[in-house]
Amino acid sequence: MACNKQKIDPRLAQNYADLATDDQRAVYRQWADSYDEELIEEFGYIAPQEAVNAFVRRVPDRTAPVLDMGCGTGLAGKLLDQAGYTHIDGIDLSPEMLEKAAALNVYRQLWEGDLTAVIDVQPIYQAVICVGVFSHKPDQPFLIPKLLDCLLPGGLVIATVNGKGWRDIGWAELLEQSQRQHDFKLESVDDIGYLTKQGIDGKLLTIRP
Ligand SMILES: C[S@@+](CC[C@H](N)C(=O)[O-])C[C@H]1O[C@@H](n2cnc3c(N)ncnc32)[C@H](O)[C@@H]1O
Repeated sequence: MACNKQKIDPRLAQNYADLATDDQRAVYRQWADSYDEELIEEFGYIAPQEAVNAFVRRVPDRTAPVLDMGCGTGLAGKLLDQAGYTHIDGIDLSPEMLEKAAALNVYRQLWEGDLTAVIDVQPIYQAVICVGVFSHKPDQPFLIPKLLDCLLPGGLVIATVNGKGWRDIGWAELLEQSQRQHDFKLESVDDIGYLTKQGIDGKLLTIRP
């Protein structure tokens, strides 16, 4: 009988562990230089394109201030810039990933910040996009209010979830619990392509306060 259980590449597996913040930072310190090439070419990472496609449909105003949370090397920022958005800021845990994002010249401001800690961001954003950050950590569904706190009234959050993480930690149930606790509106949960060459799909969440 055929077995379709995919062997996970160790470079991805390290990211699926429930790592402490310093260990997570260390993963991306080592990964920053080769991240874009490995993710896109080797793993078929299309989550940024999927998220930006959905973003463009939901946020027609190209002057809307946008925050890219967990911006990494800036894959989503680059696509937003190509789509005509003029005010894109970014936050990430890893200084090395932020350095790569800065080199693209598509972000107005970039900050080092930890989504699991206090984030000192004014609520000036029409939209927050968060791509590739949510995966295997059971606290992540409960971090969504932190993204919502960055929004202007009427704003929205677009976030992806790694489909393996979605199943492995039971995101659907945790998301429902988070929604009950924090009273946000889960407008849609859509299936998306994610790591296409690894056989891993994803979810795209659209959330409003
Ligand atoms: C898989 S990468 C995704 C980067 C980018 N958004 C993309 O789609 O290519 C995950 C990013 O989330 C960042 N990250 C992980 N935990 C974080 C946290 N607690 N706060 C802020 N950023 C975090 C990492 O440093 C890394 O750059």
